[in-house]
Amino acid sequence: MAKRGSWRTRFGFYLLAIGSACGLGNLWRFPYVVGENGGGAFILIYVFMALAIGAPMLIAELILGKNSRKSVIVATQQLSTKAGKHFKWVGRFAVILSIVVLSYYAVISGWVLHFLTQFLVSLFSTPEVVTTKTNLASLMSNGWLQFMLASAHLLITVVVVVKGVQEGLEKWISYTMPLFAALVIVLVVRSFSLPSTPEVLRFLFYPDFSKLNLASLNHALGHVFFTLSVGFGTMVTFGSYMREEDHPPTAGFRVTLVDTAISLIAVVMIFPVAFQATNAPLTDPALMFEVLPSYLISIPGGALFGLAFFACLYMAALNASIGLLEVVVSNWVDVQKKMERGSASWYSGIIALFLATFPALSSTLFADFEVKGRSLIESLDSLLINWALPIVALGMLVAYNLGTSEKEKELNFVDKDKFVSYTMYPHWLFTLKWAAPFVIGLGLILQIIGAIL
Ligand code: PFF
Ligand code: NA
Repeated sequence: MAKRGSWRTRFGFYLLAIGSACGLGNLWRFPYVVGENGGGAFILIYVFMALAIGAPMLIAELILGKNSRKSVIVATQQLSTKAGKHFKWVGRFAVILSIVVLSYYAVISGWVLHFLTQFLVSLFSTPEVVTTKTNLASLMSNGWLQFMLASAHLLITVVVVVKGVQEGLEKWISYTMPLFAALVIVLVVRSFSLPSTPEVLRFLFYPDFSKLNLASLNHALGHVFFTLSVGFGTMVTFGSYMREEDHPPTAGFRVTLVDTAISLIAVVMIFPVAFQATNAPLTDPALMFEVLPSYLISIPGGALFGLAFFACLYMAALNASIGLLEVVVSNWVDVQKKMERGSASWYSGIIALFLATFPALSSTLFADFEVKGRSLIESLDSLLINWALPIVALGMLVAYNLGTSEKEKELNFVDKDKFVSYTMYPHWLFTLKWAAPFVIGLGLILQIIGAIL
């Protein structure tokens, strides 16, 4: 069996965990989910859920990995054995979910690649050509282009994973992250000078609870899990790479804070532009890709800026995809000892590519598909993130609760040198045992009622 590495530095671990958390979920998905759920009130619930439910569950996954030094399938099998219960399937579902989400994520990453190349081309062509090409409609009308872009993305992801995560990648991430932060801040400042700003701030930060619907709680939770990479087993795998002296509660909390901050910055960046644009699809996955490129093309120096922005966004998407592929591969290798990392990576990439056909052709071949007014890609998003993800995350939580003793939990959470861990421990325990299962259950029930009514 391949030797399990651990990170040479604590910094390396943070890069990996934050790199996996921060991605399209923050910049692309969060804004349109906020739009779909009416703005301020939803943001309030979302932030509360991220800190109160997401962070504790993220910490539990890190601990599960750090303790077992195994990936999620084997780790949950061990928990089942200890509890004498049958929840072995939970780990398997997490891995299946990861590969399906990877395929869907690859299609959106392909969209990013498209704009990246369009901005590159636009540096060498006339403004008219650029405006016609850097719009979403031209991409949406070409399903095979979307499929090819998703394939290119999967190929890049597999190659990076096959070559080994530890080297190279850490460096890449550390170079692109600060540049990305700088670009996003410039964009926030710029979009704040648009006349739509006061209206946007009211929309985003003045909570109007009448805009929520029965599914909103669950939409908030689903997005919390997606954006924090909880419920996929990713954080279990990363936890298994942590060094002995690393403290999962601190790490989990920091990852949550960084990820939440980035999501909030993303909405502040995108909504002024979206409100400015006429007919912006506030409630649909196209939101960011519809408004941002055309805005960038219209401002002086925007093509170069757009190129840098989409290049960084692509790096973020690649990182997150690597995290997803990494879960699948490490589990496959843990479960099937004869399987080699390289082959497991290629096979997983091919499976993801096959699955990617559906979301990639959503706007062309499957354009007629419609369930409750949702297109194929929107239905898939909802099925994966609003239904499957909370259920799997809940299953993993129950497995963890039943498979570990209170003594063990305390041992992993409380660090005698860290005062906060003493004070936070009872809250964490209460959340894992009662609050989180209750809230997730409630979210699902309300969503079911909403779907029936
Ligand atoms: N958290 C990522 C995002 O917000 O874009 C998505 C993701 C990456 C989910 C890796 C799960 C995962 F394993
Ligand atoms: Na995220």
